[in-house]
Amino acid sequence: MRKVRPVIRGVRGAPDILPAQVGRWQRVEVETRRILKNYGYQEIRTPVFERTELFVRGIGGGTDIVEKQMYSFEDRGHESLTLRPEGTAPVIRAYLEHRLFTKGDLCKVYYIGPMFRHERPQAGRFRQFHQIGAEALGVGDPAVDAEMLDLLSHLFATLGVDGWQLHLNSIGDDACRPVFLDRFTRYMAGKVERLCPDCRVRLKRNPLRILDCKVEGCRRIVARAPSPLESLCEDCEVHFRRLQELLQLLKIDYSVNERLVRGLDYYTRTTFEFVNPGLGAQNAIAGGGRYDLLVGEMGGPPTPGIGFAIGVERLLLSLPREGPSEEWVGVFAATLGKEAFELGLRIVQDLRRQGLRATLDMEGRSLKSQMRLAHKERYRYTLILGDEELKAGVATMKDMAQGVQERVPLQEVVHRLVRHESRGKAQAGRD
Ligand code: HAM
Repeated sequence: MRKVRPVIRGVRGAPDILPAQVGRWQRVEVETRRILKNYGYQEIRTPVFERTELFVRGIGGGTDIVEKQMYSFEDRGHESLTLRPEGTAPVIRAYLEHRLFTKGDLCKVYYIGPMFRHERPQAGRFRQFHQIGAEALGVGDPAVDAEMLDLLSHLFATLGVDGWQLHLNSIGDDACRPVFLDRFTRYMAGKVERLCPDCRVRLKRNPLRILDCKVEGCRRIVARAPSPLESLCEDCEVHFRRLQELLQLLKIDYSVNERLVRGLDYYTRTTFEFVNPGLGAQNAIAGGGRYDLLVGEMGGPPTPGIGFAIGVERLLLSLPREGPSEEWVGVFAATLGKEAFELGLRIVQDLRRQGLRATLDMEGRSLKSQMRLAHKERYRYTLILGDEELKAGVATMKDMAQGVQERVPLQEVVHRLVRHESRGKAQAGRD
């Protein structure tokens, strides 16, 4: 075979999803949409780019995402735009812009789509990746948090994710966070020299993030540091306790992880992550939390909210491998000669219009290799149209799964195949 040297390759960290892989993506999407709908979520589709300012204000200027990872560019109108690194800020923008808050108390929406972050690509970490996310706006009760965690645990069980763990924390609100930060920075005061360079900057700009630094030296220091849980105010503590009661009632396993602070600035109270320890360094398959101040900060009425996002690539890495489809579906018209081809073309057109998977060879293959192809692609029926068949006004209809064949008058062929289809034998619907 000729060597192929593409002149232009795809961008690093932005992988193609090839036809052989798409089936798994579609199955996850179909199942997820079904479950989200059952829990009362409606889909929302926001643009893939937004004004840069939206993410700076929404996610927070001191976060890694805003400081180092955004794909920002100036458009031809000299406006700074950014490919969305996440979906929460765009949803809040749309929620306020279209006054979705006036249409009822609890607004539950979900989104599925690509996100963009300029991170160092590695296993499970990409520059274009996909999220399935959901946001529930308008109610601050911990029952909403519990319902969301129930949704995720149900989804992961349905899809067959093995061995996931739910990590849970509360990082307080604007009443108690300052108390914690004050204690925390005082504790850190004599230890600055031992922190990694990133954490030294964080101490000034975003001290909370020191809690989940992965550098060993920082972890040792953090192990003895005060935790946000110890500083929770009464309201936050009641909220967190009630959430745990509800999780126990719903029989959802979790463990409290006092160091879980997450990488975005908008969180208050509940934060959570679903991890799959089998995935290595990038083991968070979903993350989220409550953001009761964000809508107000974005110019809206005070509105509590909570949400999550699943990383679809990591979710797929956590699912069992599937073998090739065992299903035999559809019709392959194997034709010989121009007249038979034209007849086959019309039959295939008719079958497709009636909703069947159907095809025919357009490369002039021999009858034998057409049969081989039909077998390989797992067509349930092969319709053989050769000279002999045309003369007799029939087609040979071979059931490829059972290996039996019969001659069917041409005018009955489509009807017969469609009847089989209605019995579920030759349905369209393969990926
Ligand atoms: P996040 O933790 O930044 O949260 O991302 C959620 C999930 O997206 C992660 O747990 C991970 O599975 C996946 N993910 C993130 N970055 C990458 C990457 N570079 N490559 C592959 N997968 C990645 C958020 O985005 C929040 N908006 C979640 C949320 C919604 N919080 C409240 N509402």
